[in-house]
Formats: sequence, C-alpha cells, structure tokens
Amino acid sequence: MKTLRLLNVLVILMLILLFGGFAAGYEHYKKEIEEPVPWCGTTSYMDHFDDELTDMVKNGQALFKANCASCHVKNMRADMTGPALGGSFRRFNNDTMAYLSFVQNSGAYIAKGHDERIVQLFEDWDKSVMQAFPNLSKEDIKAIIAYTEAMYKAT
Ligand code: HEC
Repeated sequence: MKTLRLLNVLVILMLILLFGGFAAGYEHYKKEIEEPVPWCGTTSYMDHFDDELTDMVKNGQALFKANCASCHVKNMRADMTGPALGGSFRRFNNDTMAYLSFVQNSGAYIAKGHDERIVQLFEDWDKSVMQAFPNLSKEDIKAIIAYTEAMYKAT
C-alpha cells in the first residue's frame, strides 16, 4: 500500500514538472515573437532588412530623377514621353538581365526581335527610341526597379 502511495506522489510530481516545462517553454517562445532577439548588432533583423530596402529605394529614386524622370512620370501610372513604368518589371518576366539590357541599349534590344512585346511597344510609341544608358549597372537597375515598384504601390 505504502509503495503505491509513493508511486502516486511520484507520478503527480512528474506531471507537475512536465507541465511546468511546457509552460516555461511557451513563455520563452512568446517572448521571442514579441521581442525579436538582437542579431548582428541590430535590435532585430527585420529592422536591418527595412533599412537596406529603404537605402535601395532611395538610391533608385536618385537614379530615376537623374536619368528617367524626363520621360517617365514618377507616379508610375501615367504615360508621358515614355509609358508608365509601374509593373514593368513583371512585364519583363521579373528578369533583371533582360530589363537591364533593354535600358542599357533599347535600340539593340528591339533590333534583336526576340521580345515581341517590346517590339510591339516600340511600334505603339511611334518608334520613338528610348535614350541608351550604357553606364547603368545591374545594381543601379535593381535600385530603379525597387523604386518604381515602391512608387507604383504607394500611388
Ligand atoms: C528620352 C525619353 C526617355 C528616357 C530618358 C527614358 N525612357 Fe524609358 N522609354 C521611353 C520610350 C519612348 C519608351 C517606349 C518605346 C520603346 O520601348 O522604345 C520607353 C520604354 C521603357 C520601358 C519599357 C516599359 C514596358 O512597359 O515594358 C522601360 C522599362 C523603361 N523605358 C525604363 C526606363 C528607365 C529605367 C529609364 C531611366 C534609366 C528610362 N526608361 C529613361 C522613353 C524614355
């Protein structure tokens, strides 16, 4: 009888410990969600990510103003000398290199004839040739795309 009672006490003790463990684990998990753990010297990796994105968009804005704004409207929705650029990255099938090669030298890109949509666009715009930007790098183009898409979403 005595051993049985001892066994009962032991089982109850084990259950209490087990539940306590779960509760503590849950508290820890909750804390991690509410307060992101410091990572790479920043308060949270999401802050770090946002900073990077903002820098890229800002860089794209400067490049856009200097090179594209004379023909493309910055709200990315209205046409001017050139068509509205909102969503244009998707129209290039999200292909950064194709977008880059078009912007670096649209005349050569159109002449290749492999991108029928662009050939048609060129026709629709009365064959007005977009200025070439051979000095823009892949990083520049990524920044310009980030800016155009951010503006498109914001307007
Ligand atoms: C001198 C005016 C002019 C400037 C400056 C200019 N564009 Fe264009 N852009 C055009 C015209 C006109 C078209 C449409 C005809 C064509 O495709 O050649 C066009 C088309 C485009 C397209 C294709 C749009 C689509 O729907 O697929 C993209 C992308 C583009 N431009 C990006 C840029 C970027 C990025 C810059 C700045 C680095 C820029 N353009 C500067 C006149 C210009």
